[in-house]
Amino acid sequence: MNLKNLNNIAIQMVQKGKGILAADESNPTCKKRFDSINVESTEQNRNKYRDMLFTTTGMEEFISGAILFDETLRQTTMKDNTPYPEFLKSVGVIPGIKVDKGAHLLPGSDIESITAGLDGLDSRLKEYYELGAQFAKWRAVINISESSPSSLCISTNAHSLARYAALCQENGLVPIVEPEILMDGQHTIEDSFMITEEVLHSTFYELYAQGVQFEGMILKPNMVLSGYECSEKASAVEVAEMTVTVLKRCVPSAVPGIAFLSGGQSDTDATLHLNEMNKLLGENSPWNLTYSYGRALQASALEAWKGDSENIGLAQDSFIKRAKLNSMATYGDYEPSME
Ligand code: 13P
Repeated sequence: MNLKNLNNIAIQMVQKGKGILAADESNPTCKKRFDSINVESTEQNRNKYRDMLFTTTGMEEFISGAILFDETLRQTTMKDNTPYPEFLKSVGVIPGIKVDKGAHLLPGSDIESITAGLDGLDSRLKEYYELGAQFAKWRAVINISESSPSSLCISTNAHSLARYAALCQENGLVPIVEPEILMDGQHTIEDSFMITEEVLHSTFYELYAQGVQFEGMILKPNMVLSGYECSEKASAVEVAEMTVTVLKRCVPSAVPGIAFLSGGQSDTDATLHLNEMNKLLGENSPWNLTYSYGRALQASALEAWKGDSENIGLAQDSFIKRAKLNSMATYGDYEPSME
């Protein structure tokens, strides 16, 4: 393993003022997003949509890397058929790839899940590296309810995340380790704090046990929020304080950066929460705190695009606006009035 190289890529991915565009929706998820704008989810439409995002002029000022789905990694630009990994590198954006095969029911449970994709992963990683990917992503999904998460769900997902991360590093790819605790549910922010702490401890224990080098990885966690159906919505300051506290307890400072998922928050909440955290940590933060948003970077652009090539300019304006505001939030310089 060339740790120096992995560390360099990880540092670039989380450099101040930049974040990661998660555009790695699987085809079923992409269909859901396209259904909301009445666009058919065909291979060509998915290509057109990703092309619209990736060819946004100036995106590299705010976007350090883009996570692609397997199909997109093999697709090419509409203009001149340049493979996306090559195109992204040419504009200064690091290409990455989602390598998990989705969340499936955990045997013995009817609500909890385990992420699939370890079988054959080593050879897939070798191919992705050859195709130009420099980092990878694996998402574990944990939900909070009266009877979950179980310790089995937490430990099996932590184990898989570490197996994946170790294989990535062996193959020269920086692993994004994503243990996502879903924000859906009636749970309080205190519940979210407690479960996040347990999941992160378990994940870092497994990463250590399986020899993953913290300098060559990125953590992609949820923020600590009250559940969307909770009667009391925590304030942005509470979210920032509790998220930062749990990260300080669990994440070694050797990890270069933490890039949050947005998890279905509104665009503005996702920006505001990131901003509050960076305000709180200031310059003495042990890690760079940034965004690796899917919905919170894309929702307004998707809505503006509507599948019509005439709307590409408007959609790109929406995308760059969100990217810029999130970039400001990495410095703690965002103000809601900028919306
Ligand atoms: P959201 O920001 O929409 O949660 O997506 C991020 C992601 O990559 C989920 O795996």
